[in-house]
Amino acid sequence: MNKRLIYSGKAKDVFETDNDNELILFYKDQATALNGIRKEHITGKGNLNCKISSLIFHYLMRNGIETHLINDLSDNEQLVKRTKLIPIEVVLRNTIAGSFARKFALDEGKKLDPPVIEYYFKSDELNDPAINESQIESIGIANESELQEIKKQTLAINKLLVELFNQDKLDLVDFKLEFGHFETGIILIDEFSPDNCRLWDQTSHQSFDKDVFRKNEADLVTTYKKVLDRLEGVR
Ligand code: TMP
Repeated sequence: MNKRLIYSGKAKDVFETDNDNELILFYKDQATALNGIRKEHITGKGNLNCKISSLIFHYLMRNGIETHLINDLSDNEQLVKRTKLIPIEVVLRNTIAGSFARKFALDEGKKLDPPVIEYYFKSDELNDPAINESQIESIGIANESELQEIKKQTLAINKLLVELFNQDKLDLVDFKLEFGHFETGIILIDEFSPDNCRLWDQTSHQSFDKDVFRKNEADLVTTYKKVLDRLEGVR
């Protein structure tokens, strides 16, 4: 299959294929923090993120959430539907942590009920600035009904994933999603892995996500492998 690199991101490369309706995602053995300022090669990370994301997207699809995933091509590659990216990152928070704790000088760990939904405008140059619903609508990123759809899907995904991780004795603290326009409507794209969520062990409260790398707390590959093992153990 011919493939041509069209985008190289921090954690993934994106390739065009002979088929205009499909793309290939290649998960890199690379971890970044501080918006790419800190960058490290980590053997095995791409493989783990690809497997974890695939497992989670298949679980979501079995439960009625449409995603861009078609199938896995190798340990590090997925074939996905080509969509028109909606340039916002949607963050959902079930529990206070990270930038939310810092922004409002709050202690980490308190549950947020209802969950908080935030949006960030996808722009490496601008450092992904926060953006609100009114700004998203007024500058034409998404209209009111599209935003409602994104919110509805985000909440449904949250409910399903809280249940999934709960079976593995992990609390889903927060996560980031991306969406794209497809012929069937707005669908979930990108990935779901410990790179873009926070998972805390329900007993030890240890992090099982990229915070171990950001804070130099534990080995990233060992940590992500534990997440994969737990997810595979219950299914
Ligand atoms: P934050 O607390 O740093 O704002 O992050 C909230 C959640 O969103 C956390 O699970 C990590 C994820 N996230 C990304 O995946 N990419 C990003 O660029 C940012 C800022 C957060």
